[in-house]
Amino acid sequence: MSQFPQTPDFTGALAPVRVEADSTALEVDGQIPAELNGKFVRVQPDPQFVPFIEDDIFFNGDGSVTALTFRNGQVDLRQRFVRTERFLAEREARRALFGRYRNRYTDDASVAGKDRTVANTTVIGYQGALLALKEDGLPYRLDRDTLETLGRFDFDGQLTSETFTAHPKYDPDTGHFCGFAFEARGDGSRDIVFVEFDTSGRKVTEIWVEAPFPGMIHDFCVTERFVVFPLIPLSVDVQRLRRGGAHFQWEPEQAMLFGVMRRDGDGKDLQWLAGPPGFQGHVVNGFDDRNRIYVDLPTADGNVFPFFPDRNGQTTPLETLRAPVTRWTFDMSGKEGRLSAEPLTAQNMEFGKFDERYAGRPYRYGFLLGQDWSKPYHADRVGPPHPFFFNTLVQIDVTTREQQSWWPGPTDSMQEPVFVPRSASSAEGDGWLLAIVNRMAENSSDIVVLDAMRVAEGPIATIRSPLRLRMGLHGNWVPAAR
Ligand SMILES: [Fe+2]
Repeated sequence: MSQFPQTPDFTGALAPVRVEADSTALEVDGQIPAELNGKFVRVQPDPQFVPFIEDDIFFNGDGSVTALTFRNGQVDLRQRFVRTERFLAEREARRALFGRYRNRYTDDASVAGKDRTVANTTVIGYQGALLALKEDGLPYRLDRDTLETLGRFDFDGQLTSETFTAHPKYDPDTGHFCGFAFEARGDGSRDIVFVEFDTSGRKVTEIWVEAPFPGMIHDFCVTERFVVFPLIPLSVDVQRLRRGGAHFQWEPEQAMLFGVMRRDGDGKDLQWLAGPPGFQGHVVNGFDDRNRIYVDLPTADGNVFPFFPDRNGQTTPLETLRAPVTRWTFDMSGKEGRLSAEPLTAQNMEFGKFDERYAGRPYRYGFLLGQDWSKPYHADRVGPPHPFFFNTLVQIDVTTREQQSWWPGPTDSMQEPVFVPRSASSAEGDGWLLAIVNRMAENSSDIVVLDAMRVAEGPIATIRSPLRLRMGLHGNWVPAAR
């Protein structure tokens, strides 16, 4: 096979790009605020080579990091692949050697034992460098300016797990870097570890616990006193892996479980609280009031990942999924915790961000991508909605449930935003949203800058990317001063 599969995972906004690039002073329509001084870093899965697995999936692509550097009202672009062990082995061979997503038993024999991660899920500033992360392996460290890969990173020997999440959090009060790992002792293990590193990078907390079944814990929530692990009903079975099957299998009857434990404990207090069957999305934010924990996250009534079907090969049709942002309340005042859920939105939403100075603390504003089907969509020009399709950027006030949104147009979709505060002392939500717009009709990408308090007014600046940015996953803002 010398061409990518002509499937939704490899066409349209998800067509591979496979280009490394540098471009200085991008074209801008409008005015970039002078206060925007730093880097918007984000990552797209982007396969270096055509896969030999015919039904390969988007999540299996090599991490390609884009840095958009904002300085003095100008923007520069740099894009580099993360030089993982896997990337280097395949570059040497000039072809794909690694097989199915998270299934080592499908690899070419020549790469047995090599690190399989593609570091393609997020990129975040850490200790003066960047970490490119994917939940199936250790982080890779990158130079924050050149994006040169500095190597695999185990927190200077302090990380004892085989994997590390793509959704770590900074505690705004202590500056601690909080992370976790699932399948932390290898494929199909039920082991979970929670870790915290202080501002000097020293490990100060390590708590090992076990999940009731081996499944996906993609994101988590860290409040002032608690940690919450949403265990998604996507199960892992090593026998299935050995047969060449998918890493994850959808379990339609399995309840959504939430592991709740204290941050300052030893893990013995961990409780798994059960909701209905469903699929827990990315955490927007959460907080506690000592006895109760509130966690806001999109919650779907079926399988969000059609590429991980159930044991009969069935999945939920995406067009029938309902996935509103939902506030989960965990009442831990009694001996046994209790949980309840309440939708905050009517629309499906995902890829939520917030003002991270309020991480794990009571907060007011969430910034998400929404699916607004009241807006026109020109499928005749750009095909059916792609698997990660969201057509609006939404600000929600979680205290009043008021929303405002911006819709780019009938042939566009959006990628996850980042929020940048106006200054260190500005009020919550006072700042900017940066987000990539997939201009599907033009086969191009723009980066838009919006006033986060005036989302409905649309972009104050639109930056033209000189190359199409493939649909990506996550990113972060790295201030110049950090
Ligand atoms: Fe994610």
